[in-house]
Amino acid sequence: MAQIFDVVVIGAGPAGYVAAIRAAQLGLATACIDQWKTPQGQYALGGTCLNVGCIPSKALLESSENYERVLHKFKVHGITATGVKLDLQRMLARKNAIVSKMTAGIEGLFKKNKITWLRGHGSFVSGGTTWKLAVTGAQGAEPIEARNVIIATGSKARMLPGVEVDNRVICDNEGALAFEAVPERLGVIGAGVIGLELGSVWRRLGAKVRILEALPGFLGAADESIAKEAWKIFTAEQGLDIELGVKIVAVRKSKKSVVIEYIADDRSTKTLEVDRLVVSVGRVPNTDGLGAESVGLRLDERGFVDVDKNCRASLPRVFAVGDVVRGPMLAHKGEEEGVMVAEIVAGQHGHVNYDAIPWVMYTAPEIAWVGKTEQELRAEGVAYRTGRFPFAYNGRALGRDEPEGFIKMLADEKTDRVLGVHALGGQASELIAEAVMAMEFGASSEDIARICHAHPSMSEVMREAALAVDRRSLNG
Ligand code: FAD
Ligand code: NAI
Repeated sequence: MAQIFDVVVIGAGPAGYVAAIRAAQLGLATACIDQWKTPQGQYALGGTCLNVGCIPSKALLESSENYERVLHKFKVHGITATGVKLDLQRMLARKNAIVSKMTAGIEGLFKKNKITWLRGHGSFVSGGTTWKLAVTGAQGAEPIEARNVIIATGSKARMLPGVEVDNRVICDNEGALAFEAVPERLGVIGAGVIGLELGSVWRRLGAKVRILEALPGFLGAADESIAKEAWKIFTAEQGLDIELGVKIVAVRKSKKSVVIEYIADDRSTKTLEVDRLVVSVGRVPNTDGLGAESVGLRLDERGFVDVDKNCRASLPRVFAVGDVVRGPMLAHKGEEEGVMVAEIVAGQHGHVNYDAIPWVMYTAPEIAWVGKTEQELRAEGVAYRTGRFPFAYNGRALGRDEPEGFIKMLADEKTDRVLGVHALGGQASELIAEAVMAMEFGASSEDIARICHAHPSMSEVMREAALAVDRRSLNG
C-alpha cells in the first residue's frame, strides 16, 4: 500500500524545500519529491536557485569582481599586482564546491527534520480523500498518497522560437555559468537581470560583451532615476555594450560561432557574430508532466498554476508556491510562500506581504529596491516626497572605493509613511534590508531619520536619504 503523508511537496527549490522544512517543524509527516540531477547524474536538492541560479551566479560575480579589482582597482590603494593570471577552472571549481556544500546542507536539513526525500519526477494520478501521486525515478513509478500537496516545480528558461540551446555555444543560465574558457566575443539576448549579472561576469573576465534588448528602455522595472544612473555606469564607464529596441530575426550557429541577425532601433538590419551566445529573455513556469490535466488543476493563460493570495490552487488541499505561480520569480518570495502555505496546512494563519518583497540585482554597483517606484506613484496619483543621498558624501563608501550611486526614499506626502526605497551602490543588497523592515513596520521616513546608524558605515546613506525627505540631510 502507498505511504500516506500529511504533506507532499513537489519540487525542492527554495520554495519547496522551505515549505517542507516548515511543515515538518509543525509536526506534519512530510515528503519532498525532486527530479534535479547534477551533470554527474546524482539527484540534488535546491532547485534552480542552488544548482544553476542564485548561488553559483553570486559565486562567479564575487570571483570576477575580485579579478577586476586586482587588475584595475588596487592601484588607487597603492597596491601594485604583477603577473596576475586568471585560472578559470579553479574559479569554476570554487563555484561548484559552494553549490555542492549548499545542496548537501539541504540534505542535512531534510534528515534533521525527518523529511522523506523522494528522488524522481512527481505527478498527480488521481484525487479523492487523499491525493494519489506517482514518483517516477530509477525504480520506475512508485505510488504515494498525500493529504495535502504543495506544488513548487519552479521555472525554466524561456526560449526564442527557432533558437536551440545546446549549453555549449548557445546557452541559457546553466551554460552561461560554466563556459570552459572565457569567450572572446559574447552575445547576450535580453538586458534583464541574468543578462546584466552574467554579462558583467564575463566582461570582467575579459570577454567583449554585447547585449541585445528588445525594449526601447533600460531596466523598466527599476525606479527611473536608478535605471538612468545604472545605464551610465554600466555602459559609458564599464564598457558593457547594450543595444536597446532590437528585434531578433534569426540566430544561426556554425561550428565555431553564432550569427545573430536583428533589426535595430533605427530599422536597419544588422548582424552580430559572437563565439558564445546567452539567451536570457525571461523564464516560464514548469508544469511539464505534472498531471495537471488528469486531476483538473487550473493553470492561468500563461501556464502558471492559478492560485489565490494564500497560494491555494483550484483543487482542495492543493497549494502552489514559488516561480510556478504569479508574482516575481525570486527565491525569497518563494520561500515566504512556502512558509505561509505550510502554516496554513497546519491550521495556522500564514501570510505574505507582497508589498515588501525586496529586489536585488547583483551588478557592480548593486541595485536594490523595495516598494513603489517614483513612476508607479506618479501613475497612481499618489502625493509623495523624495529624499535622495549620494554614496559619494559617505566616508565609508569612499574608504571602500565605492562612491557611485545613491539611495532614494519615497514617502507619503501627508503621512510620511515610507512607500519605496531605491538603492544603487555598493552593499545595496544588504542595505535594503533596513528599508524592508521599515516598510513591514509601517515606518515613516522620520522614524528612520531618528534611528542611530553606525559611523562610518554605508547605512548612514539610508538615514541621510530619510533626512533628505524633510530637506534636512546633515552631511550633504
Ligand atoms: P526552482 O528553484 O526552479 O525549483 C524547482 C524544483 O522542482 C527543481 O529542482 C525541479 O527539478 C523540480 N521539479 C520540477 N518539476 C518537477 C516534478 N514534476 N517532479 C519533481 N521535481 C520537479 N532569485 C533571487 O531571489 N536572487 C538571486 O540572486 C537570483 N539569481 C538567479 C540567477 C539565475 C542565473 C537564475 C536562473 C535565477 C535566479 N534567481 C534569483 C531566481 C531563483 O532562482 C528562482 O526564483 C527560484 O529558484 C525559484 O524557486 P522555486 O523553488 O519556485 O523553483
Ligand atoms: P528578465 O525578465 O529579468 O529579463 C529578460 C529581458 O529580456 C527583458 O529585458 C526583456 O525585455 C528581454 N527580452 C525578452 N524577449 C526578447 C527578445 N526577443 N529579444 C531581446 N530581448 C528580449 O529575465 P531573465 O534575465 O531571463 O531572468 C529571469 C528571472 O530570473 C528574472 O526575472 C528574475 O526573476 C530571476 N533572476 C533574479 C535574479 C536576482 O534576483 N538577482 C538574478 C537572475 C535572475
